Amino acid sequence: MDRERLRSLRVAVIGGGWSDEREISLKSASRCHDALVEAGFTNVDTLDLAARDFLTRLVSGSYDVAFVAMHGAYGEDGCVQGLLEVLHLPYTFSGVAASAVSSEKQLAKAVFDEAGIRTPRGVDMPADARLSQEEVDELVARLGLPLFVKPAANGSSFGITRVTEPAGVNDAIAKAGAAGGRVLVEECVEGTEITVPVIGNADAHALPVVEIVTGADFYDVTVKYEPSALHHVIPARLEPGVYARAQELAVRAHKALGCRGCSRSDFIVTGSGEPVILETNTIPGMTAESLLPDSARHGGIEFPELCTRFVEYALEAAGEDC
Ligand SMILES: Nc1ncnc2c1ncn2[C@@H]1O[C@H](COP(=O)(O)OP(=O)(O)O)[C@@H](O)[C@H]1O
Ligand SMILES: [Mg+2]
Repeated sequence: MDRERLRSLRVAVIGGGWSDEREISLKSASRCHDALVEAGFTNVDTLDLAARDFLTRLVSGSYDVAFVAMHGAYGEDGCVQGLLEVLHLPYTFSGVAASAVSSEKQLAKAVFDEAGIRTPRGVDMPADARLSQEEVDELVARLGLPLFVKPAANGSSFGITRVTEPAGVNDAIAKAGAAGGRVLVEECVEGTEITVPVIGNADAHALPVVEIVTGADFYDVTVKYEPSALHHVIPARLEPGVYARAQELAVRAHKALGCRGCSRSDFIVTGSGEPVILETNTIPGMTAESLLPDSARHGGIEFPELCTRFVEYALEAAGEDC
């Protein structure tokens, strides 16, 4: 499909919803909407998944494609993707299975293991697990301190604790389990934090690697939404071989999970230069402070062009001529 015809398609940008990341999803949606309009799209509406009339508007809008600009539960975990499948509406980014597996970190870790991508050692447990003193000691003996305790369902660092004392383990499990999903306890991997965006379908390729610098203990919610210039170093200051390896592993993660359109994998690069993967986000943040748009811009792709390609990838994945 030529770009002129592409730009006349009716696009429903879906944002908002009910997750912890609702506000961020609204910002991502608004920015994607503006970028599509700037790129010349003439029929763009933004719909909030949590609005009472969402389904009516989606079904009656005669849309050609849905642009899913949502993060966390319902939007990034396969739920909205399932709805769009049922409606036979092509949509941006990953399908149901890749979205669901990527958003349950313990499942994604099993896929990474299988693909030969190193992940932090750890265990997962039910939300209501409470460990005896003996079990805490055993965990600490095995994984060391500090430990990272986090909800297995991917979010935006909500419910994550860096535990430095054995006495803090059970409180951290309770906090990570507050939403009811499984809880992941991981060894702390020390090193340089980076994130690697990947775009494309069968031709998936990595964008410039972003190094994340913070004065905080970890990249938590307060830091994530501060201005990007404070925390993003692009390209990441890594040895060329390590840089290329991180990009190769991010593409491998994208393919192993079956992602489409885009993904963004978070890694810690150890002192010996080995990238250890923490997670893959199937719909990374697209706000003005977000990592993926920043990386793409450094790679020469402005945000309106990037969003146009996302629509093209969606149609390509749906088998429509583009
Ligand atoms: N095992 C770990 N070792 C070191 N740092 C970690 C580990 N797990 C998480 N972190 C830190 O916590 C942040 C958020 O963790 P992550 O698993 O990416 O969750 P989220 O889904 O909230 O982004 C990471 O960006 C990193 O700074
Ligand atoms: Mg992360």
